[in-house]
Amino acid sequence: MPFNTALTRKLGIKVPVVQGGMQWVGYAELASAVSNAGGLGIITALTQPTPDDLRKEIRKCKSMTKKPFGVNLTLLPSINPPDYPAYAQAIIDEGIRIVETAGNSPGPIIKQLKAASPPCVILHKCTTIRHALSAVKLGVDFLSIDGFECAGHVGETDITNLILLSKSRQVVPIPFIASGGFCDGYGLAAALNLGAEGINMGTRFMCTVEAPIHWNIKEAIVGAQETDTQLVLRKWRNTSRLFKNETSTKAYEIENDPKTTEFKDVQPWVSGQRGRQVFLNGDKDYGVWTAGQVVGLINDIPTCADLVSRIEREAVESLKKVQSLIVDEKDIPAKL
Ligand SMILES: Cc1cc2nc3c(=O)[nH]c(=O)nc-3n(C[C@H](O)[C@H](O)[C@H](O)COP(=O)(O)O)c2cc1C
Repeated sequence: MPFNTALTRKLGIKVPVVQGGMQWVGYAELASAVSNAGGLGIITALTQPTPDDLRKEIRKCKSMTKKPFGVNLTLLPSINPPDYPAYAQAIIDEGIRIVETAGNSPGPIIKQLKAASPPCVILHKCTTIRHALSAVKLGVDFLSIDGFECAGHVGETDITNLILLSKSRQVVPIPFIASGGFCDGYGLAAALNLGAEGINMGTRFMCTVEAPIHWNIKEAIVGAQETDTQLVLRKWRNTSRLFKNETSTKAYEIENDPKTTEFKDVQPWVSGQRGRQVFLNGDKDYGVWTAGQVVGLINDIPTCADLVSRIEREAVESLKKVQSLIVDEKDIPAKL
């Protein structure tokens, strides 16, 4: 049964489930599988070394699905930033009109994407209401509200989704989707009830047949508990939620040693390149890699098609079940 929310209508998708951008995971294989399953798949721009490589990846994805898909562009603080305008231009030139933006100072890139003809639909991910309201002023179409449960950059305010989503419903004047901690249809139903138009998932989609990462890592997720994530880099106000392993534990210990004041002391332990190797060599301890608290709820490695249809079924069933709790007063049995 198709859903009818602001997200499904605007993006032309069947199930209001988005696969969020994921560095070293969000390739055409995964994005096309999610879109073919009825959700919105997203290619992660910065997994491609150059804007030209991104063009090729977009073309590859188009050859794998006829359904809508998007591209994530993450703007991270860096001494030598990637050529973001060139990545955005590649997205526009290749005809992509759905973009997930995330990170710092997105104004100029949002302006560039909105100047395309027709303009891009922008889902902007943020972890605070303050940032959400700033993005509204920049003209984004949807906010992707990322609670403290989420994988990756959790922000510095530590507000979980039960509060963040309800607050969004109260004060955010544009549609939003719920991100962080979702893996099933019960979560989708809850998010819809809190005022969201759909959900965004990262960790759950990493643990699917089509995610192009080593099978051992998917099994590590299945074996993990909700307590198996670790927050690092708080000292530098760049807090990231990682899968708890030997390397993240070492990084945490070094960071929290009172003698550590400089980022360079912890840098080798949080290297993104070593994290990338984890996905290739299947050694979960080799480097740090991103995962959310939802690892504790993930118990299998389904195809994206099975996962998305299961989410759809569970959401419909659980919404009907809750609806059935509302009865006519005359149907309430008398007390014994
Ligand atoms: C391995 C991995 C890499 C990620 N990389 C990015 C990224 O490059 N850009 C981004 O905006 N979000 C990134 N995220 C965050 C996801 O897009 C999504 O917001 C997050 O996973 C939601 O939380 P969940 O994992 O509980 O579903 C990443 C998440 C994972 C698991």
